[in-house]
Amino acid sequence: HFYTSQAASPAYSQVCSDDEYADIDWDSIGFGLTPTDYMYVTKTSQQDDGFTEGQLKQYGNIELSPSAGVLNYGQGLFEGMKAIRREDGQIVLFRPDENALRMKVGAERMCMPSPTTTQFIDAVKQTTLANKRWIPPPGKGSLYMRPMLLGTGPILGLGPAPEYMFLVYASPVRNYFKEGSAPLSLYVEQEFDRASRGGTGGIKTISNYGPALRPLVKAKSKGFSDVLYLDSVDGKYVEEVSSCNIFMVKGNTISTPPIKGTILPGVTRKSIIEIARDLGYNVEERPVPVEELLEADEVFGTGTAVGVAPVGCITHNSRRVEYRTGDNSVSKRLLSTYMAIQNGLLEDKKGWIVEL
Ligand code: COI
Repeated sequence: HFYTSQAASPAYSQVCSDDEYADIDWDSIGFGLTPTDYMYVTKTSQQDDGFTEGQLKQYGNIELSPSAGVLNYGQGLFEGMKAIRREDGQIVLFRPDENALRMKVGAERMCMPSPTTTQFIDAVKQTTLANKRWIPPPGKGSLYMRPMLLGTGPILGLGPAPEYMFLVYASPVRNYFKEGSAPLSLYVEQEFDRASRGGTGGIKTISNYGPALRPLVKAKSKGFSDVLYLDSVDGKYVEEVSSCNIFMVKGNTISTPPIKGTILPGVTRKSIIEIARDLGYNVEERPVPVEELLEADEVFGTGTAVGVAPVGCITHNSRRVEYRTGDNSVSKRLLSTYMAIQNGLLEDKKGWIVEL
């Protein structure tokens, strides 16, 4: 069944028969890593004319020079996207072109070559289909795809690495938070910032995430689900959660911070804004003072990993505020619509779905 790393890329259909599932308990997966069968790997050519044709290889460790740019200077980007198995067996991706574009924009900021949109989507398709038996049954989660762009070439002085790798791996996932789909409890971080003006908060570089660990671990140890960051200039405006974008609802108006370089331009964020407008809500992208967030009817997070996650309460200094959640909430309505488009229960009028 397995192909060695020396073997040529197998054709999609040879890899995995259609009705075969991996032998795992589909009801017990969360967001932990479950290793799958294949990963896609390609490198830049010596001539520096972009990425060569990639190959599916058996999933496993990669060899890196200790002086690889990504290890020494954090020259790396990642993406997150999901492959979904519908009731009729159709496998779909959601807006993969958006992830390809975001990687391209990030690569420019990080002085890296990027795969073309066609290469990116083809790599994700190949990796999805090669790991088809790991795509959860309908309604039991999705196959999380993790494209990565890494400066793998050796470099000692600070500078762009001389060689790059584009890699895609996959893991079946369901709920991101241990709370499952239950409302989250957020802690407003006062000591640490996530992103600064002119920094890299607006791209998906790996170096945005390591510094978020200490506040996250501290908040989790106090029983919170995640950390909500404020802007680094005034410490007054809401920015984002370490794992997702943030929205608030007041009456018929939904507000979310604007994309101005410190906030990750989430694909789910962008999609939920469109869905909400189509459903008749007034959506504003504007600076949201934390004081206003504390007066909202509802708060929710959006992201590929978290989906549309209701926030049940927020703690700011010593004040704890509770929000509406549940079946009659706006976030629930948005989540249902978003999932119905992905699952094929609502017509995809915008061309967001890519069938495999
Ligand atoms: C995603 O939502 O795909 C992300 O990359 C967020 C990450 C913290 C899991």
